[in-house]
Amino acid sequence: MYLLIPAAGSGKRMGADRNKLLLQVRSKTLIAWTLLAAEAASAISWIGIISQPHDWEDFKAILADLKLTKPVEFIPGGATRQESVYNGLQALPENAEQVLIHDGARCLATPDLFNACAAAILHCPGLIAAIPVKDTMKVVGESGIIQSTPSREQLWAAQTPQGFDVKLLKECHAEGVRQGWEVTDDAALLEKCGIEVRIVPGEETNLKVTTPQDLAIAEFILCHREQVTGD
Ligand code: CTP
Ligand code: MG
Repeated sequence: MYLLIPAAGSGKRMGADRNKLLLQVRSKTLIAWTLLAAEAASAISWIGIISQPHDWEDFKAILADLKLTKPVEFIPGGATRQESVYNGLQALPENAEQVLIHDGARCLATPDLFNACAAAILHCPGLIAAIPVKDTMKVVGESGIIQSTPSREQLWAAQTPQGFDVKLLKECHAEGVRQGWEVTDDAALLEKCGIEVRIVPGEETNLKVTTPQDLAIAEFILCHREQVTGD
């Protein structure tokens, strides 16, 4: 299974002096943790890192340390995540029929989750890892006034990995460019094209490291895993 890792952001909300994926938790960078999980997932056989060329030197130094057994390619990122994934899709080997896309910033996803998504995408056009929301969600207007309260039974928090049929996802991205759609995940493009996207149970600990507080939470989760597994 082919895996694309969007890693071309700048980490504005983290407020660090570099791409947040170059920050460390438990003496490894976020991108290193993500790559190690992909390496440990038996279903993954090829990894494309979509990233800004100015980060390549740092990423290549990290890769040199990790000594992964799987082939890794660097693909230039775009101005938005959507553009980055578009570039990634163009760079996939021609024989790629399915692809998983996983945010570099979700550095706590387990190899089991990659494997579950890789197995499931062989049987459907699109899927995402997701978990039921715990909070009651509100739709709020510009004035700060609540407009409605959607039923929680219907609400899921989207995660990555997301998996797709490559040909379909390329067509949906092309349609997105034609129509000027701006989306924050790839599933939204399939949804807009009327294609069914299914849910695979995600992981509570599969957080997207976004703010400095998330770094502390990631540290806590990794410490706990170490105690449990004795790693
Ligand atoms: N990403 C990307 N290309 C972009 C923007 C984001 O590949 N032009 C990637 C990020 O590197 C990250 C993932 O998409 O792994 C999810 O994005 P997000 O968490 O928003 O990361 P950043 O965009 O870096 O953070 P921020 O929005 O706070 O600037
Ligand atoms: Mg962003």
